Amino acid sequence: MEQSIEQTTEVLLCLSPGEAADLKEGINFLRNKKTGKDFILYKSKNRVRACKNMCKHQGGLFIKDIEDLDGRSVRCTKHNWRLDVSTMKYINPPGSFCQDELVVEMDEENGLLLLELNPPNPWDSEPRSPEHLAFGEVQITYLTHACMDLKLGDKRMVFDPWLTGPAFARGWWLLHEPPSDWLERLCQADLIYISHMHSDHLSYPTLKELAGRRPDIPIYVGNTERPVFWNLNQSGVQLTNINIVPFGIWQQVDKNLRFMILMDGVHPEMDTCIIVEYKGHKILNTVDCTRPNGGRLPEKVALMMSDFAGGASGFPMTFSGGKFTEEWKAQFIKAERKKLLNYKARLVKDLQPRIYCPFAGYFVESHPSDKYIKETNIKNDPNELNNLIKKNSDVVTWTPRPGATLDLSRMLKDPTDSKGIIEPPEGTKIYKDSWDFEPYLNILNAAVGDDIFLHSSWIKEYFTWAGFKDYNLVVRMIETDEDFSPFPGGYDYLVDFLDLSFPKERPSREHPYEEIRSRVDVIRHVVKNGLLWDDLYIGFQTRLQRSPDIYHHLFWNHFQIKLPLTPPNWRSFLMHCG
Ligand code: FES
Repeated sequence: MEQSIEQTTEVLLCLSPGEAADLKEGINFLRNKKTGKDFILYKSKNRVRACKNMCKHQGGLFIKDIEDLDGRSVRCTKHNWRLDVSTMKYINPPGSFCQDELVVEMDEENGLLLLELNPPNPWDSEPRSPEHLAFGEVQITYLTHACMDLKLGDKRMVFDPWLTGPAFARGWWLLHEPPSDWLERLCQADLIYISHMHSDHLSYPTLKELAGRRPDIPIYVGNTERPVFWNLNQSGVQLTNINIVPFGIWQQVDKNLRFMILMDGVHPEMDTCIIVEYKGHKILNTVDCTRPNGGRLPEKVALMMSDFAGGASGFPMTFSGGKFTEEWKAQFIKAERKKLLNYKARLVKDLQPRIYCPFAGYFVESHPSDKYIKETNIKNDPNELNNLIKKNSDVVTWTPRPGATLDLSRMLKDPTDSKGIIEPPEGTKIYKDSWDFEPYLNILNAAVGDDIFLHSSWIKEYFTWAGFKDYNLVVRMIETDEDFSPFPGGYDYLVDFLDLSFPKERPSREHPYEEIRSRVDVIRHVVKNGLLWDDLYIGFQTRLQRSPDIYHHLFWNHFQIKLPLTPPNWRSFLMHCG
């Protein structure tokens, strides 16, 4: 029978009439002493606005912002995001996110109440009690990176298959050697979930091999604003059974198995996570989400898996100039890694899964030209996280090796059962020691000599197509060789995004400035195919300098997520040039 689930209201903070009258104009930091939860209230002449004192990024605590002269903004203690509490909009990163507001009820008799409207948790609809699981009935096998092969009764489900080739152009390569039967395993899947469009999750080289054998393999993705498979046609990979499912609704696979895709709170336009439920036992995979489902997640699931490693960004290792010395960068990523570990450990402690598995961070910058990144972009060690988790809770942890299988029933019954986790056979190769670079580099290289680049007017054509303008930023784009020195005969030009012009010199008005050096094969491949700049930025294929030192969220968000879905029409361009 369907159980109705209603939205509820929770009182988070209660101020007496006297306490409410004592609120000062501007920012007030308050704590509910009973729950230990913190809030920020902003009082102006005619209203009070309020929010949790919790940063949208990774849940950090806000404090007074010393740079704020108007008394309106607060600063996050974790990574310095800044929030204007008078508007509830973040000012760093500029033009980015809004803070969720709480409902304020206030009158002279009763004082002030802070209320949160709690929408029902979608996974609570049609709840099921956990049923008995036989040994071997649910088995989870780790393949590589974020790829898990789940046996759920007589069904097989695979998450995020990246099993061959690079990701992010030529920047990321598999750290682990996938089990030799990976393609068989993929072919036998009843369903494949792909969490988002990043190429370490949506791997066209992997899907190409799979499509050669099973073009009709059922693939499931969330209904994100930018479609996960936006580039399928161009990729040349023939997949005929891609299913886009709405968020927060159970998808029934058979009488025992269902799943639900949820969106990310920070990047809902592209990122998702998933709950799989078999006979009432939940498996939660938060993948790469920064704030999976805005921070509301099911507690006490049987198994939870999430990313943990960090290092999945061009920042700061590809930056130079100003504060970006080697020492600063090393210190910075060390501190970031620690924060990420603490955040993940906290999340696990709060959610209390029975078993936790860190994954989705097993890549290496193995191409010789990226030696500097490989040596400096240090990632978290999964064992370190697991030890931290074990210190603070009795959650069982699993650091998977490729081909290792976890038997859920055994592990839930007795985590010390020696058959709970079957390790790969003795002598199995765990880490890759060679990668097939050449065919992938050849594809990128093919773009260098493309006819498009015989005509300098490609620059105007490309940036007009990209559609980013009316923003005060001047960028110098430099095509480079492998070592980021100017490529002989390569382009070196300015783009003024305020009016989308291409001046010879920097304009005389005051303007933020960025210099982006990009390897010529990758930038030309990206330009030619209308690809997102993740390949450049996350793939470590650029070197950046900026003045002032500001993250231009609107600019990067556009080129990393919002570019048009179809590539520039180079055929027509060449016809007109000719
Ligand atoms: S900036 Fe607030 S948690 Fe990262």
